[in-house]
Formats: sequence, structure tokens, C-alpha cells
Amino acid sequence: EKGGWSSFMAKEISEEPEAVANTLRGRVRDGEVVIPELDGLDELFAGVSRIIVIACGTAAYAGQVGKYAIEQWTRIPVDVELAHEFRYRDPVIGPDTLVVSISQSGETMDTLMAVKYAREHGAKTLSVCNTQGATIPRESDAIVYTHAGPEVAVASTKAFVAQITALYLMALHIGRVRGAISAADAADHVRELEAVPGKIAQILEREQAHIEQFAGWMADTRSVLFLGRHVGFPIALEGALKLKELAYIHAEGFAAGELKHGPIALIEPGQPVFVVVPSPRKSSEMHKKVISSIEEIRARGARVIAIAEEGDAAVLPKADEVLRIPLAGPFFEPLLAVVPLHIFAMGLATAKGLDVDQPRNLAKSVTVE
Ligand code: F6R
Repeated sequence: EKGGWSSFMAKEISEEPEAVANTLRGRVRDGEVVIPELDGLDELFAGVSRIIVIACGTAAYAGQVGKYAIEQWTRIPVDVELAHEFRYRDPVIGPDTLVVSISQSGETMDTLMAVKYAREHGAKTLSVCNTQGATIPRESDAIVYTHAGPEVAVASTKAFVAQITALYLMALHIGRVRGAISAADAADHVRELEAVPGKIAQILEREQAHIEQFAGWMADTRSVLFLGRHVGFPIALEGALKLKELAYIHAEGFAAGELKHGPIALIEPGQPVFVVVPSPRKSSEMHKKVISSIEEIRARGARVIAIAEEGDAAVLPKADEVLRIPLAGPFFEPLLAVVPLHIFAMGLATAKGLDVDQPRNLAKSVTVE
């Protein structure tokens, strides 16, 4: 039930902190990741030389975010593929390939068929799923459940942050099994993960009303662009997808570095552009590059809405609007930066008088190919 909320989506965004906390619960002991479901699979993980993540839509963006940390912590190369593209090109897979599927429902037909294909071709399969006993986990060799709780609104929100959390736990587990990451480094990342729920709660507390009001002012907007770099890139894609599906507005996400290779031609005076700004403390080089992207589009009249870390003073004079997120470690910003984008899409759709729980033409679970 919706409780006191105006929509299931509003309720589920408010549950993003719990979705992360519950996915972590019982899986961390003294700074070590402990995933009972993966007991006995050390040999399987030791034999993996390649990981392919398959999923659709928002779940695929969670995979794209996860790729950076999985590669870093396990030193296994990772590709992310849309499930419906995967099996139509005779992919090179075998017993040393781990195919990680991500699905909230566990019933998405495209993803299920890709998992079956992978298995039939000798790959190992691991399912990241939010629904106990669903078909995809039943078809997989290993399962890491997300514990986001039932997601009712068609647009996925709390499941997305839970999926990234589960991928990070999986990556730390595999990284430790393979000796690719030290106990101390893993413990640092675990601490960062444990701090995420409180930080998301802070964003909801401090920024939600502001973002909703601001989305309301934009109800007549016809097109919105989203830019990001590195882990911010899939977040830009997610922001655009949510706006398309909920507010029926043309929206596109780009890698910031790609701007000058074409998309900058789209910028005309008044064009709203969300920019996910990486932390200046993590990579001053990447931060500088994104700030210079902001300068380029602003010089052409873009209206820039920056999502930036608290204390990032360089952003303020460059942007028309700044949405603040708390400080977080290198791989953890996406778990925070996505929250304002979820709120924004919901706010804009609501301002247009649309049903955010049941967008037109969409179903919660896509059980046809
Ligand atoms: C977007 C959205 C969809 C789903 C996709 C996969 O907000 O909800 O893009 O993420 O259809 O669904 P699952 O995760 O159930 O496989």
C-alpha cells in the first residue's frame, strides 16, 4: 500500500536508503563481505577470466555503473550488454565466462533468454534479482538477491540503488576470493557502502522539496539533456530514461567527452542540461574536464543544472542551478547522484498531471521478447 504517499514512486524513492541498507544487511561482518549464497563457489570465481553483465533498461545502467568497480576490485575485464542484443551475434563465451544478469522482476523475457543462451553455451551464470524464486535466479548457477522490497511503480528507482549495492558486494567478494583486493581496501569500500543510506536520506531531506519545485517550473520543457563522465555517464543515461518514460519528454544522456563529437550541435539558448559533476577530491583532472564541458555548453546558451558534491565551490559560478550531494568515495557518488534525477523526473511528470506509477505504453515486467 501507498501509505501516506501520493504515489508508489514517491514511496519507493523514499525507500532508497532502506533498499541499500537491507541489501547490505547480514552481508558484512567486521569489514568483510560475507555472502552466504555464494559459499562453495570460490572455485567457480577463481576460474573466471571475463565477466559479461546482461540486463535491460535501468538494470543495464546499474550494470554500467557496476562495471567500473567490478573491474577495479576483481581485475577481471567486464563488458555490459543489453540482454536483447547479446544472443543475436554468436557471442564468444565459454566456461571461463561469468554472465551476471541483473533484473528487478527476475521475469524479463529478454534477460531470461540471454541467461539460458549463456548457460547452453557453457558460461557460468549469476543472477542479481529482487524477487525471491523468480525465473531468472532459478535458471542461474548463483544468486545475489537485492533486498529493495517489492517495487510497484513501473519506473525502477529503489531497485536501481539496490542493484548497484549488490554488484559492489559481489565484486568485493570475488575480489577477495581471487586476492585482487586487500582486506583493508575492501573494508574501506564496505565502510563507504554502509554510509550510503544515511547520505541518500540527507539528499531526500535537504533537496527533495527544492528539486520538486524546480521540476514544476520546467513543466513546459520539451527537451532535456544529461551529461556525465565515468560512473556519472550511466547516471546521465538513467536520468534521461526516467524523464522519457514518466514525463514523455525528449531526453538524452551523453558521455561529457562525446559532446564535441556531435551532440554539442544540439545546444541552443535555453536548452536545459543536467551535468553530473565528479568529485574534485577524487580526480581533479576529470573534474576540470567536466567543468570545461559546462563552460562550453553555457557559452552556447545552455541552462546548466549541476549535480555536485557539497563544498565543490568551482561549480557554483558556472551553473544556473546546483543540486548538492554529500561527499562519497570514488565509486559511491552514482548511488547519490541518481537520487536528484529520480526526484526530478517524478516532479516534472507530476507537474504535467501524469500518472507516475503507470506511464503510458509500459508494463512493470516485460515478459515478452
Ligand atoms: C525503467 C525500468 C525498466 C526496467 C527494465 C528491466 O525505469 O523500470 O527499464 O529496468 O525493464 O526490468 P527488470 O529489472 O525487471 O528486468
